Amino acid sequence: MTARLSLEERFRSSGGKRFYVRNLFGRIARIYDLMNRLMSFGLDGYWRAFAARYLALGSGETGLDLGAGTADLSLAVIKRSGPGTHMIGMDITPEMLQQGQRKLKRLGLQDRIELRVGDAEHIDLPDNSVDGCCSAFTVRNLSDIRQGFREMLRVVRPGGRVVCLEISHPPGKIFGTLFYLYFYKLAPLFGTIIGKAFEEYNYLPNSLTTFPDAPTLKAMMEEVGWSNVRFYRLTGGIVAVHVGTKLA
Ligand SMILES: C[S@@+](CC[C@H](N)C(=O)[O-])C[C@H]1O[C@@H](n2cnc3c(N)ncnc32)[C@H](O)[C@@H]1O
Repeated sequence: MTARLSLEERFRSSGGKRFYVRNLFGRIARIYDLMNRLMSFGLDGYWRAFAARYLALGSGETGLDLGAGTADLSLAVIKRSGPGTHMIGMDITPEMLQQGQRKLKRLGLQDRIELRVGDAEHIDLPDNSVDGCCSAFTVRNLSDIRQGFREMLRVVRPGGRVVCLEISHPPGKIFGTLFYLYFYKLAPLFGTIIGKAFEEYNYLPNSLTTFPDAPTLKAMMEEVGWSNVRFYRLTGGIVAVHVGTKLA
């Protein structure tokens, strides 16, 4: 409760959660990829690969990656998609996108993935303009999760799909206790020591405290209009991948 209140206070003094989150990711953009690999013991790549399979684009299709950050999910989708497919990666933090842009340049994939600054809660795209929408570790950071899913539904064409990869609450008691011990105690310690970013890596566990569990997130997606919503728990439920479709 104390941690929750103090996080709320930090949001308020930064001008709102959106600004707090943007500044936070701006500060850690350079170490973000390395810390992800270390803190997830390399599992983050497998989680994104699993999620990307559900968005895989057909020829001529365009996908949207919200909170694209350093572009790893967009890259995972493009790797599993046919020729003539495109991704738009959107993020509120320019520093994260700059890191992503360097990666795309290195891989020669700037023509397939376009990175641009934009807000997942107010997507700057017309209705029904993309074939599918995905996100990895983004919705936990939104001020209003339902608003995010509503916007995704608006921009995806009828028959299109949504894929959401997020940290979750493991259902098993023993595994859950071990995970929370790691996530709330050890991970912030790694972030503080290796990443030299105390505030930033303490936000990480706190951002999960109020985040819904997998069945509740599924219900939220259905509430705003997504259909055929289902979820897959990975690695004992540390993360969950929710998928759904927009009725044709
Ligand atoms: C934990 S990072 C995930 C980055 C990337 N998707 C990945 O798989 O590593 C969360 C990202 O969401 C972005 N973000 C947070 N709120 C956002 C919003 N309202 N709209 C767009 N991006 C947002 C942050 O700037 C950050 O880059």
